[in-house]
Amino acid sequence: MLIIGCSNSRDLAKKIAVKARRHGKVKYSELETARFPDGEIYVRYNVPVKDKKVVLVQSFYGNISDEMIEVVFAAQTAKDLGAKEVTLVAPYFPYFRQDKRFKPGESISIQVIAKMLNRFIHRLIVVDPHLHRLKSMYDVFTCRCHNLSADPAIARYIEQNIKNVIIIGPDWESYRWAEKTADIIGCESAILEKKRYSATKVDVRINKKIDLKDKTVVLVDDIISTGHTMQEAIKDLKKIGAKKFVIICVHSLFVGNAMDRLKKTGARIVSCNTIKHKTNKIDVTSIIETALKHHIMETA
Ligand code: R5P
Repeated sequence: MLIIGCSNSRDLAKKIAVKARRHGKVKYSELETARFPDGEIYVRYNVPVKDKKVVLVQSFYGNISDEMIEVVFAAQTAKDLGAKEVTLVAPYFPYFRQDKRFKPGESISIQVIAKMLNRFIHRLIVVDPHLHRLKSMYDVFTCRCHNLSADPAIARYIEQNIKNVIIIGPDWESYRWAEKTADIIGCESAILEKKRYSATKVDVRINKKIDLKDKTVVLVDDIISTGHTMQEAIKDLKKIGAKKFVIICVHSLFVGNAMDRLKKTGARIVSCNTIKHKTNKIDVTSIIETALKHHIMETA
């Protein structure tokens, strides 16, 4: 197997490759990438890919469109050069939130992206894809899909680092992360109700009586983007007596001044390393390596 670090995830790819070696023969190489003066993207493999199982590792944040084109170029080129198959490991995969036509005339982005990638990749591995209206990745992808969960790693972090915990999901969609993590730890959990008025205006209400006395409130969600959801949740929880907060997310998008907004709440901020960020404290590479294990052993 040949693990290829794409431009956004070289460190993560290297780490996965090192761990994956215990299951069989795994080589690591970096995709050479460059940009022409007019903005065109250039990619090149520095190692032969013929007859190899190629695994591209790329997380999509920052300049998503360029990162996506880079992967399409890399995947198609691998096939063109005779690779046996192409897997994309996308620790964070974008566009899942635009999974329906909210207003007439809108593009259902995840369908478009999936249709494009289906042509180039055989297998897709994603950590906590934001499946909301879609029930499964197979609703849009035809390649083999692996939907990995960071819950066990988040639960381990909480157990090892935080005492007297209550886990709260800031909106009903977050129940999958909040409740599952609480189940693993065996602690209490609650979910809040969120009303979103626009991309930056959200209102959050508590729908259950909870005893927050002396507790550390751990808010768990899949994505933090602008940080408004977490900010509103903390504002409301403070009104009913909560004092200590830890915010944990899988995917730390933290767009614009999200970090400043969240720091003002006084909460400790922790994220998984699906997206490289200074708040990364939870490592998901073992979860990815385990998903690749079977695939590597088939190669041997
Ligand atoms: C949405 O359903 C997600 O689970 C997050 O709650 C959302 O993306 C957070 O967005 P923001 O940080 O912009 O409030």
